[in-house]
Amino acid sequence: MSVPTVGPRDVPALVRAHAREDVVGVARVLRERHGHLVRIAVPRGPTAYLVTHPEDVERVLRSEPERFGYYTGDAASDFDRALGDTVVSLTEASGGWLERLRALAPEFRRASIEPKAPGLADAAAEAYAEHAGERVDSLRLARVASLRMLGRWLFGPDVRRHEEAVVEAVTTLRGAFKRRNLTVRGAVAGALGVGGDEADIEAAIGTLESVAAALVARRVASPDDYDDALATWLTRPDPVTGEPLAPATVEREAVGMVVAGFATLSAGLSWAIHALARRPELQARLAAEAERSALFGGEVEGSTADQLPLADAVWSEAIRLYPPLPLFGRQVAEPVRFRGHALDPGALALVSPYVTGRDPAFWSSSERFDPARWRGPTERPEFAFYPFGGGRHACLGEAVATAEARVALAALCRDYRLRSPIAGARPEFSVTLQPDRALPVRLDPR
Ligand code: HEM
Repeated sequence: MSVPTVGPRDVPALVRAHAREDVVGVARVLRERHGHLVRIAVPRGPTAYLVTHPEDVERVLRSEPERFGYYTGDAASDFDRALGDTVVSLTEASGGWLERLRALAPEFRRASIEPKAPGLADAAAEAYAEHAGERVDSLRLARVASLRMLGRWLFGPDVRRHEEAVVEAVTTLRGAFKRRNLTVRGAVAGALGVGGDEADIEAAIGTLESVAAALVARRVASPDDYDDALATWLTRPDPVTGEPLAPATVEREAVGMVVAGFATLSAGLSWAIHALARRPELQARLAAEAERSALFGGEVEGSTADQLPLADAVWSEAIRLYPPLPLFGRQVAEPVRFRGHALDPGALALVSPYVTGRDPAFWSSSERFDPARWRGPTERPEFAFYPFGGGRHACLGEAVATAEARVALAALCRDYRLRSPIAGARPEFSVTLQPDRALPVRLDPR
């Protein structure tokens, strides 16, 4: 029995039949029609397999790393330009990844982020206050809050003076997160007729590089004035080499962190904010939870997860339905069998937290936004939910993004009543998954 295959003749028909669907919507149709393993054979680019069963996803991302490497074909030049020689792009095969991870990782640990929660809450509240009483696009609101929080955690307050430039550059760079994602666009999205505009990438990267250079130069000139992650990376000796990272390396990593962390977090938050704006009762419960938390002056202590379980559930539910990176993948390096079928070496194995996260086989009422499903223990397989990937190359920023999201949603509902006249938007995939139209939200101070 061969793997269910969609070929060059099926793809145009599929796109026509689902013209209103985005690539992720088409991927869902493939899963619904053909099951958990679908072969996509297109004229240009490598053969791809859409792999969406949690057991198979776990093999691709975590348990069989030697069989699934990083894509090394074309479609990587913009990516290399943006993220070359950073922890996002380095791999076991390229070398240097583990050493870089060792230098950077402490600042990403939960234990080093949680104490920063009060500062993150202030940063988010400050961003919202600029829109108090106004109607603002949820994505715009999410972007300002995300950048302020990332800035507070990573760069210190002086990133503020570069804010406009960074927001603009990252918006442009939405097309260049990382090689394995560009791959997806080159090999699948392109084949499915969804083009991308890469024209301004060069200028946007130039902007980010000059902002990073300015931030690093200030820290090199007066190291004692800063105690943020950047300053730490410039001064902390590596346990093995005894040397801190070179300023040029820290500059590149700073660009990489912004590209990897900003568009993803803000895309996820925009969906969560809009979902709240349509649910006054949920907002009220979140506001009450925030009031009870020590973070906002109440009695409940502990980690952000302990203090803000409902905010955590709202965030999980938002990124289950709208995972910021909905489709990414690996390249099959060795012969391997899935569901009784042999996969061709050299082919792409695409995984999709979007498709698996909405699969009725693993989620009851899978389309419904229902934070209550995150209460208590669950029988679900671990890889039914993998918005942050998994295994060795799982998202380094997961703890940062999760703490920031909890705090950002709690701060918003504590201070404002939200309303939106728009029922929803379609997800649009261009590396990150964003609403395909503006979702205006009104912020009325409580
Ligand atoms: C909601 C927010 C975020 C989501 C959904 C997300 C998702 C992901 C995913 C799925 C991967 C793995 C991709 C793959 O396996 O090919 C990844 C990798 C990565 N992410 Fe995130 N991310 C988020 C936020 C962040 C933030 C805030 C940062 C840093 C400030 C960050 C830094 C990274 C890095 C450095 C990697 C590469 C890790 C490695 O290859 O060793 N991410 N992210």
